[in-house]
Amino acid sequence: MIDMHVTLPGGLHPLTLNNPVMTASGTFGYGVEFTPYGDLTKLGGIVVKGLSLAPRRGNPMPRVAETPCGMLNAVGLQNDGAEYFVRTTLPKLPWREVPIVANLYACDPGEFGELAAVLAAEEGVAALEVNISCPNVKEGGVIFGQDPRQAAKVTEAVKMRAGSKPVIVKLSPNVTDIAHMARAVEDAGADVLSCINTLTGMGVDINTRKPLLANVVGGLSGPAIKPVALRCVWQVAKAVSIPVIGIGGITSAEDVLEFLLVGAHAVQVGTANFIRPDFVFRLVDDLAALCERMGIEQWDDFRGTLKV
Ligand SMILES: Cc1cc2nc3c(=O)[nH]c(=O)nc-3n(C[C@H](O)[C@H](O)[C@H](O)COP(=O)(O)O)c2cc1C
Repeated sequence: MIDMHVTLPGGLHPLTLNNPVMTASGTFGYGVEFTPYGDLTKLGGIVVKGLSLAPRRGNPMPRVAETPCGMLNAVGLQNDGAEYFVRTTLPKLPWREVPIVANLYACDPGEFGELAAVLAAEEGVAALEVNISCPNVKEGGVIFGQDPRQAAKVTEAVKMRAGSKPVIVKLSPNVTDIAHMARAVEDAGADVLSCINTLTGMGVDINTRKPLLANVVGGLSGPAIKPVALRCVWQVAKAVSIPVIGIGGITSAEDVLEFLLVGAHAVQVGTANFIRPDFVFRLVDDLAALCERMGIEQWDDFRGTLKV
């Protein structure tokens, strides 16, 4: 039987997860909201909703819309702010049993650094994930994720203030060459990469002649983006020597193995949490059963073994 633990090497303290199944930022609240649906300590890791230094109200409604095999969102990083999170929410999370990853959003490298210092100082925060890929905010966001020099500056600013905590940088698929972005961020000191964030998209209503989102444009997620995500993870894993976390459209244990096969060390699950709030908890069991059926005994024997 497989030992489900997975270690992401890198940083002064490698990040050890209970299993490869993490939750994706912005789709699992702060984690505490999901306690009625399952045991949080069963998860590989929890990535909390994007945090900024000051609280944010987010974008006007409507800010989510269903699409074939996916959803569009333009939430705009609504959150309580980092101070409130560390004081009020973090103590309610079982951080000794499951790694809690803080997802960071800021408008410039200096602010990213300041935010990193606040969050990295908390014993309950296991790692930082830097969101340089949000398509739904006016300042910063995906702008950082589309320019390798800007992405490197943000990465350096966070690394400088992150102490011994591993720094994960989350890449955008909305670029011409994701491998080039990945290398720039690795050279700037990132310990781990996660990909992908949402794809820029929009939806319209021919009867009202209005866009489906008040923001007009939003981020597409869910099963519709899985082939794009797999391609990105494969290209990134080949381009860098740091670990990669695969994200995008995962709705089954088979999907998890597809991401590991193309080179991911772990995965994050997002939109599926909106379909079934107990999904990730069941996924951990399904993954263990699938590995048993397929005779996979060690992640190292399976990861990145795609035959091309
Ligand atoms: C409603 C919603 C909110 C999101 N908020 C964030 C966020 O705050 N920070 C971030 O890095 N990614 C955010 N994302 C992107 C997800 O973490 C994930 O990268 C993306 O949805 C692809 O995974 P999926 O297809 O499994 O949903 C958000 C996605 C959705 C659907």
